[in-house]
Amino acid sequence: MPSLSGSDELIFFVNGKKVVVKKPDPEVTLLFYLRRELHLTGTKFACGEGGCGACTVMVSRYSASSKQIRHYPVTACLVPICSLHGAAVTTVEGVGSIRTRVHPVQERLAKCHGTQCGFCSPGMVMSIYTLLRNHPDPTPEQVTEALGGNLCRCTGYRPIVESGKTFCANPTVCQVKRPGRCCLEQEEEEAGSVHTREKMCTKLYDKDEFQPLDPSQEPIFPPELIRMAEDPNKRRLTFQGERTTWLAPATLPDLLELRAEFPQAPLIMGNTTVGPDIKFKGEFHPVFVSPLELPELCVLNSEGDGVTVGSGHSLAQLSDALQSIVSQQPSERTETCRALLNHLRTLAGVQIRSMATLGGHVATRATVSDLNPILAAGKTTIHLVSKEGERQIPLDGAFLEGSPRAGLRPGEIVLSVFIPYSSQWQFVSGLRQAQRQENAMAIVNAGMSVRLEDGSSTIRDLQVFYGGIGPTVLSASRTCGQLVGRQWDDQMLGEACRGILDELRLPPGAKGGQVEFRHTLMLSLLFKFYLRVQRALSKLDPQKFPDIPEEYTSALEEFPIGTPQGTQIFRCVDPHQPPQDPVGHPVMHQAGLKHATGEAAFVDDLPLVSQELFLAVVTSTRAHAKIISIDTGEALALPGVVAVITAEDVPGENNHQGEIFYAQREVVCVGQIVCTVAADTYAHAREAAQKVKVEYEDIEPRIITIEQALEHSSFLSPERKIEQGNVEQAFKHVDQVIEGEVHVEGQEHFYMETQTILAVPRAEDKEMVLHLGTQFPTHVQEFVATALNVPRNRIACHMRRAGGAFGGKVTKPALLGAVAAVAAKKTGRPIRFVLERGDDMLITAGRHPLLGRYKVGFMKSGLIKAVDLEFYINGGCTPDESQLVIEYVVLKSENAYYIPNFRCRGRACKTNLPSNTAFRGFGFPQATVVVEAYMTAVASHCDLLPEEVREMNMYKRPSQTAYRQRFDPEPLRRCWKDCLEHSSFHARKRAAEDFNRQSRWKKRGLAMIPMKYTIGVPVAYYHQAAALVHIYLDGSVLLTHGGCELGQGLHTKMMQVASRELGIPTSYIHLSETSTVTVPNAVFTAGSMGTDINGKAVQNACQTLMARLQPVIRRNPKGKWEEWIKKAFEESISLSATGYFRGFQTNMDWDKERGDAFPYYVYGAACAEVDVDCLSGAHKLLRADIFMDAAFSINPAVDIGQIEGAFVQGMGLYTTEELKYSPKGKLRSQGTNDYKIPTVTEIPEEFHVTLVHSRNPVAIYSSKGLGEAGMFLGSSVISAIWDAVAAARKERKGAESVPETLAVRSPATPEWIRMACVDQFTDMIPRDDPSTFTPWSICVS
Ligand SMILES: Cc1cc2nc3c(=O)[nH]c(=O)nc-3n(C[C@H](O)[C@H](O)[C@H](O)COP(=O)(O)OP(=O)(O)OC[C@H]3O[C@@H](n4cnc5c(N)ncnc54)[C@H](O)[C@@H]3O)c2cc1C
Ligand code: FES
Ligand code: FES
Repeated sequence: MPSLSGSDELIFFVNGKKVVVKKPDPEVTLLFYLRRELHLTGTKFACGEGGCGACTVMVSRYSASSKQIRHYPVTACLVPICSLHGAAVTTVEGVGSIRTRVHPVQERLAKCHGTQCGFCSPGMVMSIYTLLRNHPDPTPEQVTEALGGNLCRCTGYRPIVESGKTFCANPTVCQVKRPGRCCLEQEEEEAGSVHTREKMCTKLYDKDEFQPLDPSQEPIFPPELIRMAEDPNKRRLTFQGERTTWLAPATLPDLLELRAEFPQAPLIMGNTTVGPDIKFKGEFHPVFVSPLELPELCVLNSEGDGVTVGSGHSLAQLSDALQSIVSQQPSERTETCRALLNHLRTLAGVQIRSMATLGGHVATRATVSDLNPILAAGKTTIHLVSKEGERQIPLDGAFLEGSPRAGLRPGEIVLSVFIPYSSQWQFVSGLRQAQRQENAMAIVNAGMSVRLEDGSSTIRDLQVFYGGIGPTVLSASRTCGQLVGRQWDDQMLGEACRGILDELRLPPGAKGGQVEFRHTLMLSLLFKFYLRVQRALSKLDPQKFPDIPEEYTSALEEFPIGTPQGTQIFRCVDPHQPPQDPVGHPVMHQAGLKHATGEAAFVDDLPLVSQELFLAVVTSTRAHAKIISIDTGEALALPGVVAVITAEDVPGENNHQGEIFYAQREVVCVGQIVCTVAADTYAHAREAAQKVKVEYEDIEPRIITIEQALEHSSFLSPERKIEQGNVEQAFKHVDQVIEGEVHVEGQEHFYMETQTILAVPRAEDKEMVLHLGTQFPTHVQEFVATALNVPRNRIACHMRRAGGAFGGKVTKPALLGAVAAVAAKKTGRPIRFVLERGDDMLITAGRHPLLGRYKVGFMKSGLIKAVDLEFYINGGCTPDESQLVIEYVVLKSENAYYIPNFRCRGRACKTNLPSNTAFRGFGFPQATVVVEAYMTAVASHCDLLPEEVREMNMYKRPSQTAYRQRFDPEPLRRCWKDCLEHSSFHARKRAAEDFNRQSRWKKRGLAMIPMKYTIGVPVAYYHQAAALVHIYLDGSVLLTHGGCELGQGLHTKMMQVASRELGIPTSYIHLSETSTVTVPNAVFTAGSMGTDINGKAVQNACQTLMARLQPVIRRNPKGKWEEWIKKAFEESISLSATGYFRGFQTNMDWDKERGDAFPYYVYGAACAEVDVDCLSGAHKLLRADIFMDAAFSINPAVDIGQIEGAFVQGMGLYTTEELKYSPKGKLRSQGTNDYKIPTVTEIPEEFHVTLVHSRNPVAIYSSKGLGEAGMFLGSSVISAIWDAVAAARKERKGAESVPETLAVRSPATPEWIRMACVDQFTDMIPRDDPSTFTPWSICVS
């Protein structure tokens, strides 16, 4: 730490107000400062690593040199406040408010139904708002690009993009470059044709209601900041924090002075590398140097032989500069610039691109840097400057590989980068493959350049650089050197491949895993470059250089990033329905506007409570071990620490129903809570938690995978079985029998709001109040009461809303609630317990990984006669809901198919992984993908389309399930037929086959999937519900029920129900929160039953009230509601009523293997069309059509939102979302960096959803619960991928090849796709003997 006395004042503006921080702490981020110091809680914390966009705010800066104001989006979690001197920050609160004026961006997001849980909404608003500040009339592509850095786990993005597109002059651009009419026209016509039959509607909102955007109304940039920027006497600033010092030089000489004085201090530019390293790698820097805007770092000069770009340019500014250069220069000069531009479009999201600088990017030399390999291939040089002088060095292999002779010397900085223009016979490409297309670090990337002798194909110079293959970017310099003088031909390619494999090899257990895939990618990317150059040569001189074969051109085309669009079709409301009655209308989410303005409060947005402490966790680092000792001495001595809480402190039960609150004597998984630390700030608690020393002694066995559990007969539950017919006999009489195994890996809930609890102990009577986002307040109450050893009536749980839940907040909040409550009890102070993303992913686990084994007997026609299924799920270390999940798996395992001889057995395995839990679909999405896998296998063996086999084996008439429940599959047939017809399945399938014939390296796949989804549970008392309705004397109504608002629009629908039943507009009705105080013993809000059961309870309460009011109304039928209420009061009529619903009468007798297990079924069908890139493993979802049996939709906007959101979440499960565990059971994917949920880029380019009408007398207003069903329809995407991969394999193996059962798994990641599309490159990859090394990650299903 330098000896510097005093600290300067930090001055910046937030929402037009000046902020002066006397002693700013360099370790404090803008996000923390906004939320904790300024109480601006609209900006959310969801990942803390720049990966989700929930904390997006706009920063505006004035440049004294250009005299311009620049507005750009940033992720506040990565912005140190000290970097904001002279900047203006706009948060969602500064954009608009329901208390003053809601901004058009906020209004449209809400009205277009772009908010569900609302946690991502402020970030979305800020991204669109910033775009509009720069481009008031954006293109649809700009809207999509602006949203690329923002994650949403609920909506599936389509409505968010649509809200942004309402600002475009021309919002609908058909991107489908296939023959025929525009897809949307076609859909409109189809909607029209259905319209005439069934009165269908397509408008979910009314554009006429939107306020216009008036850019002149936006706040002006603070003039004081202009004066500050233009001050000629700017001087160095020093900000002195608790542990660190921030030095901000105002001139270049001063910067160089400081750099010489503090050579170890990082130079903070965008902080997008330093920030995450401090947070996640535990790096500590006592001094930071961060220049104020220096003109020398912002030069841009494109004259001469190349372009000089100042190191201070953000990547977004670099992109703008390159775009302008590319438009001005002849194309042969801009090969490198275009390659860079291409990568800049997908590198991170706009926020990171606006923060990260070119200098920071180059100096970091990260292994998967997207720009460095291209810069190196393009022979870029770096201009370095220090106090000692200036020099130029090449940005080459030696620099990137970190050779001390070739890098920066102490005291030097990167001043600028010189990118030479390419020449006519030079070709430069950047290539990459990541887990998803945008906002994901590459798995492997490359920069390649070749300079040929003029007019010939003789190699004069070749440069090949790879990222992701080693600890740094690597150059294949030896191979490239050997190829100089060779012709650019197939022989050269073969040698290049062999040479590269020889030169650059990953060890088999290399960090990051995917070793064979990464080796394959090296060759595939090289091949793409090879073809690109060949094609370019033939363009230059077609006589001399033959073009590549036409079917090879597909290797060159990258998947475009389109702007999603689509249609939503639903049944119109009966024209005779009273206008006041909102039931059946697409009513906006009841909290939609509050979501968009950031005024909807989540638990961590609640104001600080006096004396409150923060909690941080210490979790087990071993999967199965004895705890020898816990040493808390060092932690307790740290500043601000109040207590360390262990199992000893639990006054009541520490192990309730097999769930352990604090580990005692032994640990049973990595991630189990061993102890917690309570301190005055979270930073202090976290630091102390890192200092707690736990000594372990490993215990055998350590069981991580299902296979290991089977070996050790380690189970959590007894076997469950259903059976019909005679399976063994039937196998003897079929034409063919096939057997297979499918592994389906787990899924992280990735709700945007991590688990958060505020536990406030009361002084009297051992009471405690908990605020938390849960799906099951009763369960929290139970666990907390048990842990504290008090009756349940002392524990009050309040739940206003959750920022997404998806099953992950059914049981886990109870465990975490107990942990927090014990801490509150021990310290006697309120406890705020906010799990960081990594801890949340580690501790709370997710969807059960599943192993499915099948044996199918079928006839040549494709008719399946017998199926024998075995399912095992990885339950983890405690019971949680694993038994229920496996029961569901078994009951739902037939999906939509009637198999006369059917047997399914299932069992939950006990392992040493964190305990897996409920997740949307509750086992169905994992199990039925196995069913679709064997449907596909049967089709392949019968030479039929999978859809033909599906249709042939589908339930056709009123039937019994395998567990003997009667049902009528008529809506299933209708959804299937409508989907086939309206998606033009067969025509598109033929077109795909044509496409595949003409395209060797990209294959198109189509799949259509039927679904029979069960609603509810086989236990009647889990369907009970209660409500409480008060009418106040002014006529306003307070509505409460036992269901929880998780974003699914439950409260909105309940208000619609109450509005219809009471005959008053929804504006009279208020719904505040769910609490154990108002509605006791409420069951969980899950299983798509929220509306079904709570709706009945609300209806019951309202009908009771209306019955009481009837005499008053009869006497004054023309009276107003307020008059009736007043009169009723005067007549001593009670204006408060409880409502109750006993539940659906379901049952299941597992001994007899039969029961009426579910109240009803939801049916659906989905068709998906994808393209896969056989060389890289990428896929692109071109179109999805969903037909969902919604019966009568109470709110089509909410229901369509659920369907689309679940579909996209399902698509994530089956494609990009991959949890990685070490062989020792440690979860390796613990944040946005390692775990990839879909972004706006992954969703279908064309997305059509139709609600199919049917009857459902069982549920309220004949509706159906649609919260989960869409999830499984996402499997149409994986089936389409299988279809495309099968086409690739068939082509490689030849048309005469024997039918095969494609060894499928889920997720179908780029790795799986690439390695399944076998070809000459996969054949070249050396295979390592698995018994000779420890893999980096393993499959746990
Ligand atoms: C969420 C997220 C997603 C990302 N995705 C991608 C991706 O897809 N592809 C990709 O390639 N990268 C990606 N990145 C990495 C990103 O490109 C780099 O973090 C960024 O370019 C670093 O620039 P910076 O200005 O933020 O550096 P800083 O973090 O400010 O500094 C980084 C290092 O560089 C040094 N430094 C900075 N400027 C200079 C200079 N002028 N001279 C000498 N030394 C200097 C500093 O001392 C420090 O050690 C991602 C980052 C994040 C946070
Ligand atoms: S919380 Fe900042 S990007 Fe996720
Ligand atoms: S609405 Fe986007 S995360 Fe919930």
